[in-house]
Order: sequence, then structure tokens, then C-alpha cells
Amino acid sequence: MPQVPTFSTSRQEIAGVSVTQLAAEFGTPTYVYDAAKIIERIHDLSAFDVVRYAQKACSNLAVLKLVREHGVVVDAVSAWEIRRALAAGFDKHGDPPPIVYTADIFDREALELCVEHGLHVNCGSPDMIRQLGEMAPGREITLRINPGFGHGHSQKTNTGGQQSKHGIWHEQLSNCLMLADANGLQITGLHMHIGSGTDLHHLSQVCDAMEKAALEVGRSIKTISAGGGLPVPYNSEQTYVDLDKYFELWDATRKRLEEAFGHSLSLEIEPGRYLSAEAGYLIAEIRAVKEMGTNLFYVADAGFNNLARPIMYGAYHPISVARKDGQALEATNDVIVGGPLCESGDIFTQEEGGFVSARKLPPATIGDLLVIECAGAYGYCMSSNYNSKPLAAEVMIEDGKARVIRRRQTFEGFIADEMV
Ligand code: LLP
Repeated sequence: MPQVPTFSTSRQEIAGVSVTQLAAEFGTPTYVYDAAKIIERIHDLSAFDVVRYAQKACSNLAVLKLVREHGVVVDAVSAWEIRRALAAGFDKHGDPPPIVYTADIFDREALELCVEHGLHVNCGSPDMIRQLGEMAPGREITLRINPGFGHGHSQKTNTGGQQSKHGIWHEQLSNCLMLADANGLQITGLHMHIGSGTDLHHLSQVCDAMEKAALEVGRSIKTISAGGGLPVPYNSEQTYVDLDKYFELWDATRKRLEEAFGHSLSLEIEPGRYLSAEAGYLIAEIRAVKEMGTNLFYVADAGFNNLARPIMYGAYHPISVARKDGQALEATNDVIVGGPLCESGDIFTQEEGGFVSARKLPPATIGDLLVIECAGAYGYCMSSNYNSKPLAAEVMIEDGKARVIRRRQTFEGFIADEMV
């Protein structure tokens, strides 16, 4: 289990490269990823047979290629995530399947791609079983089961229980077995993902539900997937889950099933955030420092168009200041950090249930930089063009060298699909 980092409010470098140099070379706002951190996190999970990256967390092709080169396979939740995975060099077939399509629906493009390429499908609804069976009988499939409970860092990231639209309701498993049979599909695995950013207690409740469901399916099961959801600490009070313990619980479940079935089972884990969150930093430039009555605001050039987690979930992200004079000053100011958008909710410091909340940060002036940390998961990939702001650039640092892995969006690219 990694050690919880201490978050400082001043930061001069990222993975050995100076923050001011990064901003000068690539502009702001820019996402920066530390490749070594992603690789370190992959190694943390080496006890599992298969690490399947939930690319929805951060799907830049360079990130996908990096994880692929370190033995990780990938999950895709849409037609274009499938196409990204293919573009990043993942094979179509293999054992374990290099790409698995996990969703609650097939849109027409995704269904065609899965059929055309013979991709492995993890069905999240009885309708998916029917649709795939009609077009491509004779396949092996896995089922995503909603075990009847879920948990997450926010109600919006809880993916189990009756209020969730995700997966096949556990009590409908026997119907789905008949449905698969009637459609000529063989169920070779089960998958459960109860939510994101949850704790060991909730994550491990899934083991019992998995065992029960797998026994119901029987000996055709070859794979069980624990899903994702592993938390990362976004502040020093939060923690990781004990990975040894987590693995032990799943391994025991696997062993009991192996004994019941008389053959070996592959144990998968499907992390998104765990691999990419801590590797990512959003660099922004402070463009205004202003007082509103008793409140002090740093207004930067990145907003919720770049990082939506604070406005969507009240999520906390560590923020540090990189002053252009290179000084690491003490955090003596109570600051509200906002972005450029024409919305009052465009505030990065709103985590305490409040609309705005102040955070202790060092004194700063225009041209100083902000580094919003732990932003590598659900950061860039949830960004938008709101207020006609361009999508940020993405940069990866490997062996102390920074290179662009996505150019900043251009105005021409931005309007290219519009017709007058
Ligand atoms: N597997 C499935 C089927 C999922 O739906 C997800 C996340 C994952 C794996 C990966 O979960 P992770 O290990 O990253 O927690 N935008 C939210 C998170 C939404 C997660 C959606 N599904 C956030 O920023 O916290």
C-alpha cells in the first residue's frame, strides 16, 4: 500500500520539470502527466492476474499506449473508446481479451464494432444479451451484475443498488442465463463494479455477492472481475485501501470458486482513477487577484470546462502555487480559487458542501501559476468547450522530458464541424 503523500501549497516542479518552464513551453491551461507514477500504480496491482484499465478516467492515446506496454489491458464503454483502444495498439483478440466493451446499452455503432471485430462484450442489461445474440450467436460473454448495493465518494459515483442504472439486477441473473442460452451465448465471466472512490469495507462486500452469483452460473465461469473503484487520497486525511488485504479477500473468493468448479479462474481488477489520478496535474495561470468584501479570489485561466470534478461532486483537489519568482512562500492567505467562466459555480474550492470555500494558499500575483493536483482521472476527459474555451493541451513527462501528447485545440478545429 503506497504512503499517503503530503500535499504542499507550493510546488516548483512536476516529475523533475519546472512548472514555470512547462507553462512557458506549452501554455496554460495544460494537463501534465507523470508517466512514472502511472507505471508505479500498475505495479502496485501486480498480484491480480489481469489489470484492465478503465480508460474513461484518462484516455489519451499516449496514456493507453503506456499502460499497454506495461501489460495492462483495457475497458471500453463506447464505440470511440473501442476505436481509441485499437488506435493505441491493443489487439482485438487474446486471452485475456485485450479490449472488453462494458456498458449498459449498445448504441448502433458500438454493436457493429463489437460484432465486426469479434470483441469481448460485458453485458450490462438483458437487452444487450438479446441484441448481441441476434447478431453474433456462439460468442462467449461476461455479465456485469448489480449486486443490490453500491458505494462511492459521492452519490453520483455509486453504481450499485436500486437507484443505479448499471448492470444486471442480481435477482435477474437466472433469467439472463436462460436468455443467453436461448441466444446461443455462453457466460464465461462475471463482473461487479459498485462505485468509485469507495473503501475497503464496501469494496470487499462484493466478494460474497460474486461468489453467490458465480455459483449460480456454474462451471462455465472462467473470469471474475472486481471492477474498479479503488480510492486515491485527494488530501492527507484520505487514504488508499490496503491492497494486500483487498487482494487476499478476492483471492480467497477465487479459490473457493476454483474448488467448486474444479478449474482455475482468472481474477481481474478494473481501475481507472487508481492508475491515472495522482499522475495528473492541471497547470493554470493566475490572471486576476481580487478582493470581494472580505473574500480574496485568485482567478485563473482554467475553469470547470477543464476540470469538472469540484462543481460536479464538490470534489477536493490539492492546489499549489508556483510563483514566477520561484519563492515558496508560506500559505498565509485565505483564498477562493475560481476560473474564467461566466458561472458563479466556476470555483475549484467548493468542497465543504458550500458553494465557495476559502483555502490557505501562499500570496500570489498575476502571472503566477496554480497547480491543481490529483487531476489525472476524470479531468481532461470530462472537459468541455463551454464559453467557447478551447480544450487544454496534454503533456507527458517521461524520464525528465516533457512532450505534448495532445495539442491545445485550435479555433479552426473548434468550429470545423459547424455549418452556417
Ligand atoms: N469499471 C466500471 C464499469 C466503471 O463504471 C468505472 C467508473 C470504473 C471501472 C473505474 O472506476 P475508478 O477505478 O476510476 O473509480 N467522474 C467520476 C467517476 C465516475 C466513474 C465512472 N465509472 C469522478 O470524477 O469521480
